[in-house]
Amino acid sequence: MKNWAEKYRPKKINEIVGQKEAIEKVKNFLLNFPGKKKAIILNGLSGIGKTTIVHAMSNEINSEIFELNASDLRNKSSMNLRLKPVLEQQPLFEKNKIILVDEVDGISGTDRGGVSELVSLIESSKYPIICTSNDTWTQKLSPLRKKCEIIELKEISPSEIKGVLKMILENEKKEINPETLNQISIKSNGDLRSAINELETISELGKKEIIEIYEKPKKMDIFHAMKHIFQDQAEVEMTSTFDRVDMPIDEILLWIEENLPKVYSGVELFKAYEQLAKVDLFKGRIYRQQYWRFLVYENFFLSFGISESKGKKDKKGFYKYKKPERILKIWLNNQKHAKKNSIAEKFAKKTHVGKRKALSQWNEIKYILKNPKIQKQLKMDEEEINYIMKY
Ligand SMILES: Nc1ncnc2c1ncn2[C@@H]1O[C@H](COP(=O)(O)OP(=O)(O)O)[C@@H](O)[C@H]1O
Ligand SMILES: [Mg+2]
Repeated sequence: MKNWAEKYRPKKINEIVGQKEAIEKVKNFLLNFPGKKKAIILNGLSGIGKTTIVHAMSNEINSEIFELNASDLRNKSSMNLRLKPVLEQQPLFEKNKIILVDEVDGISGTDRGGVSELVSLIESSKYPIICTSNDTWTQKLSPLRKKCEIIELKEISPSEIKGVLKMILENEKKEINPETLNQISIKSNGDLRSAINELETISELGKKEIIEIYEKPKKMDIFHAMKHIFQDQAEVEMTSTFDRVDMPIDEILLWIEENLPKVYSGVELFKAYEQLAKVDLFKGRIYRQQYWRFLVYENFFLSFGISESKGKKDKKGFYKYKKPERILKIWLNNQKHAKKNSIAEKFAKKTHVGKRKALSQWNEIKYILKNPKIQKQLKMDEEEINYIMKY
């Protein structure tokens, strides 16, 4: 049986809640294809209607969706094989087509090939391409951003969410406590899918009492996170800021380092650098002694510590935050080495050859490691497999 979120997924455009502007833009894009750009990205948090809009729109304009996923893009020949029949169909029987790349930010970070495949597909495609994404601003998607018009979707308001939940309850002939209903509507933070899921779970409990709903932490991109830390008045709650950013803490550190001197000056800059020095100190201890609980301190200095360095005030104004290109490249490169290292370690352990030996014979060993059976035996994780397959 379908869960409620699926069961109540709108089939028609006019059943979609909110998102009027985005829907209008998608429609324009499709009806005027090929226009200035041949692809769009629907950007926004999860559960707000990105996938739904694409499917409902294709029903509305009577076209067909051809869906590509991250793993298709990883492998050029398999993608072309899958695409071929689509692209070569007889024009006479041809229905309009939309190529959908859902959750394009899922193309993994080590998998740069996937992004460039997509970019060249956009350049050659006869059909409109729609991507969806939670976080379009990650570094790895930058070549894609240049090819696409980016359409922002909004979070669904609590009252709109409540409206949908009530409609579902009525339809299912179920009831829950009104206060609980309010709480779900507010605390889902604009994510309608999670609100519907929560409603389904609670209604199955068959209880009428008030159930405490925990707030879903809202995702934040790195630009907003930096603005929050650098410019808002310091508060202890800031320590949770980076939990909401989809980025390893070490990469966040690079962004902070790069942008700090743009916003801070004089004494406050000096104080903030002291905080960064402490971060480095703890980082060293974390790696040397594997004291993972020091991560807490690292995070603390990097968020509240930096913010507090400017005193108890906020900073108004617009600052142009920038991504730390050069250092980031070095960092990503080191990450690559880290992959190679961890794979070599696994290999060495299984074969008793010693890690240094394994690394010195890397050129031979890497071919062995492309074998899926071996990968399984060594328990290589997805990122390690991606890494080795790209060689
Ligand atoms: N704007 C919306 N209007 C109506 N239902 C929605 C909307 N957004 C999300 N939903 C509900 O949440 C579910 C997931 O929506 P979906 O479009 O898949 O979200 P995402 O933005 O993550 O792609 C849908 O099946 C539907 O039940
Ligand atoms: Mg989706």
